[in-house]
Amino acid sequence: YRIAVLASGRGSNLQALIDAAASQALPATLVGVFSDRADALALERARGAGIPALALDPGAFPSRAAFDLELFAQIDAAAPDLVVCAGYMRLLGAAPVEARAGRLVNIHPSLLPAFKGLRTHRRALEAGAREHGASIHFVTADLDGGPVVSQARVPVLAGDDAATLGTRVLAREHPLLVETVRLLAAGRVVLHERRIHLDGRAL
Ligand code: GRF
Repeated sequence: YRIAVLASGRGSNLQALIDAAASQALPATLVGVFSDRADALALERARGAGIPALALDPGAFPSRAAFDLELFAQIDAAAPDLVVCAGYMRLLGAAPVEARAGRLVNIHPSLLPAFKGLRTHRRALEAGAREHGASIHFVTADLDGGPVVSQARVPVLAGDDAATLGTRVLAREHPLLVETVRLLAAGRVVLHERRIHLDGRAL
C-alpha cells in the first residue's frame, strides 16, 4: 500500500506515519512527500527516512490550477494508493480533488464540522467549547467539509491557551492518523457514493 503525504510545515504527523511504517505497525510504504514550502521541516524528515521529497514553489506558477497540475503530476508519478494531507496549508483545486475522491484524506485539528479553517484551537477556546479534538476526513471540493472518517476528542481544561490545547490535540492526532491510515490501507474504510463504508456497511 503506497502513501504520499502533502505537508507545509513541521511534519509531526508525517513523522508518525514514518515511524509506524518503519516499525511495521503500518503495513505501507511512504512513496513521496510533497510540499509547497522548500523550508518545511517535513521535507527534512522525509529525506532523513529515505523518502523522496519534493517542494514546488507556488510563486513559480501562473495560477493555482497550473500549480496543482504539476503537483499532482509529480504525486501521480509516485503512484500512491492514498494521498494524506498532513498540515498542508494550501487550498487544492476542486478538479484534482474530485478526480481523487476516496483516495485523498486530510487531518484537521478540530471536531468537524466545528471550526473549519484556520486557528482552530483559539476559536474553540473563544467559543467556550468543553471538548475539542481532531478529525480525519476525505477531501472534497468543500474545504474541511468532506465526509469524516475518524475523530479524537480531548477535554478543554481550565487555564488552557491555544498552545496547551493544541499540544493536547496534537498528541492525539498522531495515533489517530496512523490508525485511520491502517483502516484505509486494509480496505476496511472506503468512500462510496459520497458516503463512508466501514467493513462494507454505510456509516
Ligand atoms: C496539525 O495540527 C494538523 O491537524 C493540521 O496542521 C498541523 C500539522 O502539524 N492540519 P504537523 O506539520 O503534522 O506537525
